[in-house]
Amino acid sequence: MKLWGGRFEKNTDKLVEQYTSSLNWDKRLYQYDIRGSLAHVAMLAKCGIITDDEAEKIRDGLNQIFREIKDNQFVFDPSDEDIHMSIERALIEKVGPSGGKLHTARSRNDQVVLDERMYLKDEITDIINSLLNLQEIIFSASEDKKEIILPGYTHLQRAQPVLLAHHLMAYFFMFQRDIERLVCCYKRTDVMPLGSAALAGTSFPIDREFVARQLGFSKISENSMDSVSDRDFIVEFISAVSLVMVHLSKLSEEIILWSSSEFQFVEVDDAYATGSSIMPQKKNADVAELVRSKTGKVFGNLVSLLTTLKALPLAYNRDLQEDKENLFGAVDTVKISLQVFCGMLKTLKFNSEKMKKAAENSFVNATDLADYLVLKGLPFRQAHEVVGRLVKLCLDKNCKLNDLSLEEMQSHSHLIDEKVFDVLLIGNCVESKISDGGTSSKSLEKQFVQSREFLEETKKWVEGKRKT
Ligand code: ARG
Repeated sequence: MKLWGGRFEKNTDKLVEQYTSSLNWDKRLYQYDIRGSLAHVAMLAKCGIITDDEAEKIRDGLNQIFREIKDNQFVFDPSDEDIHMSIERALIEKVGPSGGKLHTARSRNDQVVLDERMYLKDEITDIINSLLNLQEIIFSASEDKKEIILPGYTHLQRAQPVLLAHHLMAYFFMFQRDIERLVCCYKRTDVMPLGSAALAGTSFPIDREFVARQLGFSKISENSMDSVSDRDFIVEFISAVSLVMVHLSKLSEEIILWSSSEFQFVEVDDAYATGSSIMPQKKNADVAELVRSKTGKVFGNLVSLLTTLKALPLAYNRDLQEDKENLFGAVDTVKISLQVFCGMLKTLKFNSEKMKKAAENSFVNATDLADYLVLKGLPFRQAHEVVGRLVKLCLDKNCKLNDLSLEEMQSHSHLIDEKVFDVLLIGNCVESKISDGGTSSKSLEKQFVQSREFLEETKKWVEGKRKT
């Protein structure tokens, strides 16, 4: 008989049992479920709701079940609806009727969201740690390759020269904001819901603060109906990791482009590339392509959960059970993607010659020439016009700006003198961008200082969370 079977006259239809079960998914919450139950039972005994003797028995039973599940010895009964029922049934089988006292002043409605919050706190910490690892890879590649110059692009057209380090550090700051979002999300996840019971709270003299302290939560939830029925902390999480995936997919796209024969800016390590079953010459950046594609799966998780929550009346509804596929799906996809991406990036080879050539064989210094004329007193709009005509001249002659003679340039503006050739050097173009956040090495050093501070602080945050 079901643990809730008292008012039923018939057994549940088998197909209904299958359809309503979440056991296959929520099994993975078992350790949190048991830790939550241990804290709950300690509280029940402390508040005199059950005896110390009963608490002892329940504790022993729960610890045994924990070991059995961990060692793969536990027999899951498919007719159990979920992990909470499986554990409670096993407990009663092991310790007898006093096992049935565990569920006093508690409902699966507050129990499941407690488990999810405990689980997610750990996963957020892990994901932040992986993001830190990724940032360190980006940071050391940038520090290492400070002199490499490539064209910066807009509309995927060569625009202005930049340092490769500056380009890479752009991603450092994207991932920094991702971490900051996850830290915020952690705060809102770190709220203890147990004691909300089914929806209304409980008449037993419980101590919710005690349970929160036992389980390392910063605070307890304020409203029992809210705490059993909202999953906005999961939406926030999936939305934060959706942005992680957006950022990974942008860098993936660049790696795919940059490793093409047309660019040849990078080469993916053999261990992170795959071949073709028919074309012997092929070496494909499949990891980057799959990261790009899996990004969509995480968006799917987000939209799916939002749709589940939309217009749900208070309080708990069974619809909420479907949150787990999306939560676990997003966690799994982002974790594995980060892990494999870090390996790929760490072993990526950058081709500085190709990058430099691409910058030199282009008009990426055109804006610098216009700025030079502006410094000589010409309004920017006119300077733009002059340089535009010089570019046109180069296109007709099939050469670069640096290849024009001083006379050719002066025929378009008498303001130009021989210093122009220095201005047109790609390295000088880069180093002239001294504005805060610009691409000169001087501005880049400031980015490095900020980044080092962020890495230090965030590592401390992770260590702090790991201790609790
Ligand atoms: N398996 C359920 C879930 O994941 C647990 C709560 C079920 N509560 C209920 N009254 N049926 O949401």
